[in-house]
Amino acid sequence: MCGIVGYIGARQAQSVLIDSLKRLEYRGYDSAGIAVVPPGQKKMQVHKKKGMIKNLEDNLPALNGTLGISHTRWATHGPPSDSNAHPHVDCKGNIAIVHNGIIENYLELKESLINEGHVFTSETDTEVLAHLIEKYYTNDLYKAMKLALEQVQGSYAILALHMHERDRLVSARNESPLVLGLGIDENFIASDVPAVLKYTDKVVYLDNGEIADVTKSSIKITDFNGKTIERPWHKIEWSLEDAEKGGYEHFMLKEIFEQPRAVREAMLGKLSGFTLDNVNGIEFNSAKILGCGTSYHAGLVGKYILESIMGLPTSIETSSEYRYNSTTLDQPLVILISQSGETADTLAAAREARRRGCKTIGITNVVGSTLTREVDDVMFIRVGPEISVCATKSFTGQIISLYLLASHLSRTRGFLKADEIREFSNALRQQSRLVEQVLNNPEPIKECANKLAKAENVFFIGRNINYPSALEGALKLKEISYIHAEGYQAGELKHGPLALLMPQTPIVAIAVKDHTYDKMISNIEEVTARDSPVIAIGHESDTELEKYVDTVLRIPDVPPLFTPVPVAVVLQLLAYYTARNRGCPIDKPRNLAKSVTVE
Ligand code: F6R
Repeated sequence: MCGIVGYIGARQAQSVLIDSLKRLEYRGYDSAGIAVVPPGQKKMQVHKKKGMIKNLEDNLPALNGTLGISHTRWATHGPPSDSNAHPHVDCKGNIAIVHNGIIENYLELKESLINEGHVFTSETDTEVLAHLIEKYYTNDLYKAMKLALEQVQGSYAILALHMHERDRLVSARNESPLVLGLGIDENFIASDVPAVLKYTDKVVYLDNGEIADVTKSSIKITDFNGKTIERPWHKIEWSLEDAEKGGYEHFMLKEIFEQPRAVREAMLGKLSGFTLDNVNGIEFNSAKILGCGTSYHAGLVGKYILESIMGLPTSIETSSEYRYNSTTLDQPLVILISQSGETADTLAAAREARRRGCKTIGITNVVGSTLTREVDDVMFIRVGPEISVCATKSFTGQIISLYLLASHLSRTRGFLKADEIREFSNALRQQSRLVEQVLNNPEPIKECANKLAKAENVFFIGRNINYPSALEGALKLKEISYIHAEGYQAGELKHGPLALLMPQTPIVAIAVKDHTYDKMISNIEEVTARDSPVIAIGHESDTELEKYVDTVLRIPDVPPLFTPVPVAVVLQLLAYYTARNRGCPIDKPRNLAKSVTVE
């Protein structure tokens, strides 16, 4: 996720662009840049800086010009640096573009553009857009954009300007958001409403497959074939603060609802294969996964995925324990998971794993984070910045990355046949739709949350691949609602914890239809015999479950291996609505920090 802003009108663009960009900092903040077209001069003013927008702002000279674009970055291709920051320009420096999204076929486009003589100055996927538009430019930026996009696969919101067309901004959208803000003799284009709200409350949303040709007094929207589209404008009723959260009450809820898209982006460009250059050649017959908190829980799901797809014996430890254990027999392949890529325990574990001679793969959300430099290969989960302290979309993004990793290792090591990989990829493609289905029906979850909010203790139980779901459900609940919650393997309750059960101790049982289902029902009966109320999470078509429990929350029918992501979304909403009922400070729970940089 990145934030982009464009301005065309009578004001000095610099202050509008920087001011509006700051409202999008929640979309990314590892580098920022601005391009302004100065009147009467031949050279575009382009300034880019690694770091937050403030860093760019503090280093900017006064830029004269009323047409410009700006960008705040959350890196996906190429680490944060001045040269990888946007805007990117063509060879002549006439065209400047900013982009949010991922150009999947950028490597082949880059190669052919280089063969045609174009000179690249960054490691980004985005720069190909500037050169492609240059290639097709014949005095009409809109036409050049249209022709360039015919070559492009991926997701994008793009804004472009040309030095020779000083009353024109052209933008296009596919799978990344864009909104046009309508002023009087001025117009704005941005990734999201908060960027324009200070200046106008009249907006037009661009849809996928649309191009907007914008001057200071007009907006023309067409599809990619040039067919004009009439689109009414909306009046935004939100306050600025509401708008930053997309109208949601908390960032956590916004991030939960971002998951259909986040899950899609986590897969983008990887389903048909990817490379892990440094671990590809190594021999291994087992693996180890390390992480902390929610990332550890994702790793535990990963263990079940790797074991069930490839039969690869996989052990898992928390990062904080790994470095101090005295094992001499180490797995040659170690996978380290960290949303932030800055968790001190996980960084120390990565160093320790390498010291022990293991090859390491990092799974993280932050390009340029320390973890990326401490491992041999990296997979980015690409779910965009997570603002709420409580991890949600990064957890599901990590699980998606682990499915992708399992499929990659299976493919390269010949564990699965081509048709099995195809089937696996097809199932993976459904994950976003499954999440959407859960999100479309929050009412039963809210009702359960009303009851949970009164509890002092809650137990979460699960088996097999949904044992980690139980741990994660309990962690979410305790973290944001301050209710004591514990996650257990369902079979373990009878070995001690049953002593704690009372009629006022609710149990959340993850009871999806898998090979442990009958055992799970027995475990539920052990609990109901102690009069504890049970909320079960089960498959949509399971009509048995409701006979044993008080309430059933449903996930769509999906093979057991693919249940953890939709189950996670139910559990996130359950924790969220419970905490909301209790009036807790959801985005900033007491005593917790987003990134734990001490051991
Ligand atoms: C829980 C949560 C934490 C983090 C943990 C690791 O909601 O966010 O448990 O998962 O601190 O953080 P990362 O993934 O950044 O290493």
